[in-house]
Amino acid sequence: MATLAKTVVATGASSGLGFEVIKQLLVQKQPYKFILGARDVATTQAAFGKVEFDKSQHSLVVLPLELSDLKGVKKFSQQVLERTGQDKLDYLMLNAARSNGAEQQGPHGSKWCESYIVNHLSHHYLVHLLRDKLVASNSRLVFVSSGAIRMVKDPSTLDADLKGGSGAGSQTVYAGTKFTALLNAHWWRRQLTGQCTVVAVSPGLIPDTGLSRGMQVTIPPEMMKDAKSVAEGAGSILAAFTRTDFPEDPDQIFLTSWGEWWGRDVIEGSLDKGLQDKWSPSKEEIEKEEGIVG
Ligand SMILES: NC(=O)c1ccc[n+]([C@@H]2O[C@H](COP(=O)([O-])OP(=O)(O)OC[C@H]3O[C@@H](n4cnc5c(N)ncnc54)[C@H](OP(=O)(O)O)[C@@H]3O)[C@@H](O)[C@H]2O)c1
Repeated sequence: MATLAKTVVATGASSGLGFEVIKQLLVQKQPYKFILGARDVATTQAAFGKVEFDKSQHSLVVLPLELSDLKGVKKFSQQVLERTGQDKLDYLMLNAARSNGAEQQGPHGSKWCESYIVNHLSHHYLVHLLRDKLVASNSRLVFVSSGAIRMVKDPSTLDADLKGGSGAGSQTVYAGTKFTALLNAHWWRRQLTGQCTVVAVSPGLIPDTGLSRGMQVTIPPEMMKDAKSVAEGAGSILAAFTRTDFPEDPDQIFLTSWGEWWGRDVIEGSLDKGLQDKWSPSKEEIEKEEGIVG
């Protein structure tokens, strides 16, 4: 039987902003059923074990999820469907990301670099796998994006830069993967019109997370004046769970950290439908290219 609790499925909730988002939801009166994917299940469970919350109100389960392994993503999706059962899947938060460059060959024989797979391809594949459930649930999909998408001036360079072993640096790869993920958010918005709500959101500049681990650059002091706390960044992401004041223009799906919907002029590069299609392969294409069988 369906419960009153709202189900939240999330990636990247083991630390940083994603962890804080779940912490902030855990103090709400609304009951939640959290299904979180994390690569280190024991550490993530231990971290949430230290968070005080009403266990009679909320439930929280952590399932193994290594996003660089698409076979594991498929297994995670099956476990999510088993765990949700008859309940709706109300929110899907696609938040995990890494910031490493593309010096290494792609994982598991993929032609793509690990950051591309973690930040974009795995999330896109997960939405494919959960599609029927998302549609049946009228879900809200929250793509955690970044102002870094503005750094991509020429998308034709992405084909080469995002390949494993391309040698592209962390900034180029990070911006490129967040750009392809935003293209993909638009693509899913088009596919799921009238069935699901799709929102992309930027948390703002939040230096105190683990994201800078892979970055080979330091943030210039003039940018640091806009820096926000982890709690504020998580608050910005949470706004994407609840905002209903969508602009009339259906392409304006990007919520900024200061609460405005970014205009077409800023996200123009991501509005190219040809590019959205190109960077949003079908489930079958992904499985063929990445050698996923069964
Ligand atoms: N911080 C900022 O200034 C900023 C600005 C704009 C946008 N964002 C976006 O905000 C989101 C969260 O970033 P953050 O700053 O909170 O970074 P973070 O502290 O590094 O957190 C990243 C999360 O992604 C998970 N993750 C990384 N690689 C993974 C993999 N291969 N498989 C499964 N999970 C993986 C991490 O898990 P582990 O705990 O195992 O490492 C962690 O939970 C990202 O989408 C990022 O692009 C951040």
